[in-house]
Amino acid sequence: MPPLPSQLAYIPFVSVENMMRLVHHFGIETMLRELTDAVEADYRRWDIFEKTPRMASHSRDGVIELMPTSDGETFGFKYVNGHPSNAAKGFQTITAFGLLARVDNGYPLMLTEMTLLTALRTAATSAMAARHLAPKGSTVMAMIGNGAQAEFQALAMKAVVGIEEVRLYDIDPKATEKTARNLADSGLRVVSCATSQDAIEGAHIITTCTADKAYATILTDNMVGPGIHINAIGGDCPGKTELHKDILARADTFVEFEPQTRIEGEIQQMDAGYPVTEFWKVVSGEAAGRRDSRQITLFDSVGFAIEDFSALRYVYSKLHGTDFFQQIDILADPDDPRDLFGMLQRAA
Ligand SMILES: NC(=O)c1ccc[n+]([C@@H]2O[C@H](COP(=O)([O-])OP(=O)(O)OC[C@H]3O[C@@H](n4cnc5c(N)ncnc54)[C@H](O)[C@@H]3O)[C@@H](O)[C@H]2O)c1
Repeated sequence: MPPLPSQLAYIPFVSVENMMRLVHHFGIETMLRELTDAVEADYRRWDIFEKTPRMASHSRDGVIELMPTSDGETFGFKYVNGHPSNAAKGFQTITAFGLLARVDNGYPLMLTEMTLLTALRTAATSAMAARHLAPKGSTVMAMIGNGAQAEFQALAMKAVVGIEEVRLYDIDPKATEKTARNLADSGLRVVSCATSQDAIEGAHIITTCTADKAYATILTDNMVGPGIHINAIGGDCPGKTELHKDILARADTFVEFEPQTRIEGEIQQMDAGYPVTEFWKVVSGEAAGRRDSRQITLFDSVGFAIEDFSALRYVYSKLHGTDFFQQIDILADPDDPRDLFGMLQRAA
């Protein structure tokens, strides 16, 4: 019988099954509200984070990305893929997992699934932006693209912004049917629409969340009237956008981390001088959010590492006193730190 790993070798691992138990235990809307506050709290201490555009490995069908950051005490990273052609082949467009670690000794603290957690944190980030940028009293939201992220987006806008009606559109009616079915008991008024024009009728917030590896035009300029908030999250890679550039010319655009968004966001269509505001400035009071009722605001979201860091720390904080994790011996930790080989030998 080989010797047991040392206690230091073990860290909590949150599987997909346990993440689902955790979400049901705390309640999805509570989690979305708390996560929104957690992301916003980290946006308020933006300065102390290590920031870099994510490392992206592009291929014909998609991208694999690594998203690291640190606040000096804790380090986090996410592995995530984005493959728009996956759904047609029976795979998820996006899957992810992530790790949190101590900065002082480099030892990991937690490994977790992040496919569900990415949907939660993306929805929380959208809601954070909307509560500062959407018109006051927004109650109607259009949701264009009814795939994996859609219900999370709608529920976060309900829980955080007070949205009462969601108007759905997808080029694939089966996706709209699925989303309408899943939201039937959510307390939202759900309206399934036959066109995107129908979906945006009366909407205060338009969320575009489609997946296509192309310069798509989900919204044209004439579709966007004054006073709208656009939450554009599907355009998040070079050569993958959702909005006609004329909309950007009329909008005040807010981004996560400008150097990354210039490469990946809707603003890749604009020249380098196109003005944007990093959203942390709005949260910290350095820049204005929505200024008047006729302004078109655009949150050009691509997803940034700090949001994943907030989500990782949030989940870690929820594990204490629960059994929503397994202990795994992720690292080799011999009794004598230099005797790695001896540890291997004794296990024979
Ligand atoms: N900004 C972020 O932080 C962030 C985070 C997660 C996902 N995303 C992006 O959001 C997008 C959606 O992700 P998902 O996991 O929901 O993908 P998904 O593949 O599950 O769903 C995408 C949906 O878009 C629909 N669609 C494609 N083209 C369309 C069009 N022209 N009009 C209307 N609908 C159209 C598809 O039919 C599908 O139902 C992806 O592009 C992904 O990269 C961004």
